[in-house]
Amino acid sequence: MDSIRVTGGNPLSGRVKAHGAKNAVLKHMVAMLLAPGHYRLDNVPGILDVDIMGEVLDHVGARCARQGTVVEVDVPELLNPEAPLELVRKMRASILILGALLARVGSARVALPGGDDFGSRPIGMHLDGLEQMGAKFELRHGVLEASAPNGLRGTEVFLEFPSVGATENLLLAAVLAKGRSVIGNAAREPELADLASFLNAMGAKVDGAGTSTIEVMGVTSLGPADHTVVADRLEAGTYALAAAATGGDITVEGCDPNFLRMELRKMEAAGCSVERGEDWFSVVGPERPEPLDIATLPFPGFHTDMHPQMVSFLTRAIGTSIVTENVYAARFRYIGELNRMGADIHADGQHVVVRGVDGLSGCEVDGCDIRAAAALTIAGLSADGQTIVREAEHIDRGYDNFVETLHSLGADIDR
Ligand code: EPU
Repeated sequence: MDSIRVTGGNPLSGRVKAHGAKNAVLKHMVAMLLAPGHYRLDNVPGILDVDIMGEVLDHVGARCARQGTVVEVDVPELLNPEAPLELVRKMRASILILGALLARVGSARVALPGGDDFGSRPIGMHLDGLEQMGAKFELRHGVLEASAPNGLRGTEVFLEFPSVGATENLLLAAVLAKGRSVIGNAAREPELADLASFLNAMGAKVDGAGTSTIEVMGVTSLGPADHTVVADRLEAGTYALAAAATGGDITVEGCDPNFLRMELRKMEAAGCSVERGEDWFSVVGPERPEPLDIATLPFPGFHTDMHPQMVSFLTRAIGTSIVTENVYAARFRYIGELNRMGADIHADGQHVVVRGVDGLSGCEVDGCDIRAAAALTIAGLSADGQTIVREAEHIDRGYDNFVETLHSLGADIDR
């Protein structure tokens, strides 16, 4: 098991450039299964999840090669339409091959993902929508066997919640379905708009991605395309909060500040100075933050994947903050770890009550998941003494060169 060692006290200062977004590139890789040929993705982050999605594609029969920020993929005519449990367990996003394979091959076998640290995380909305398009599902021995005996047909699906994954699965299925599909109450995330623009470059006819109504005219075939992955707003926001928590200053380049509109607004309310450009923003942190009220919501609301990092920042606020988690049933394991560092936080149902303390003191903590590990590192940057964040491999799933980047900003940190 790997650890990150950080000694607090250095205000971070400098510039970073956002890498490509994890939650976009993984979907682009699945979208490639929709048509045979050679693909090239640029601005791909050097993260573990891209390798795992590469394994998924390998299993299906595609060949992925990665060099620096470029991933090239060859997708053959014939595919092996399945994702076994060992891959789905490693990465839930594997479930997205369902829509793409149903559309391209007419069948798929995908192990059903279980729950995780965020709660049970069902996929009922994915399956309901695909069923409305003509798919049939049977669960046998933990494996979902999907088929579309008469092909997929376009239809109107209205999601009960703007689920990112369900919107993507339906979009991937709809691009090759017969006729017109409408996805209502769709997720509006920038990564989804980026997926739609990649699909359109492949020859799909998708309108309205990035709004809550996506309209798709099915086409009979698609072809390969090249694409540059949109910036990772979660990475950008994490570094902004890391700098702010140390009372430092940072400029993040290569990321549209509108992708973090709510998060930056909340940082301003906490006392940060924020400047915004077209594809950059800068943040100067306060000595100690003002307390905040935050509710996580689908985009353009406050992102749930910024929740633990924001709580970490608020541990030293002058007063009591409340963060309400509306996206996940459980996202609270990191709280006990922050409390070990001297924070005063308790969860009451979906609400996290953060009473500001004068300071944190470094100790050994467990990373739990990608954002928790980032949040605990942020806490370590402002804590007194040394913090060891264990299970640091979670960081590798979502952050490219995390330790090196923080080091370049002046942090006393190593792996
Ligand atoms: N949900 C259902 N039924 C469904 C689908 C979702 O109840 O059929 C619930 C989930 O259980 C969850 C909520 O709806 O409570 C939101 O789930 P959503 O489908 O929107 O999330 P996701 O597609 O599984 C993606 C990101 C997550 C991010 C969420 C929310 C990827 C690979 N993952 O997950 O990213 O938290 O959207 O924005 O894109 C991360 O990057 O650290 C991460 C966890």
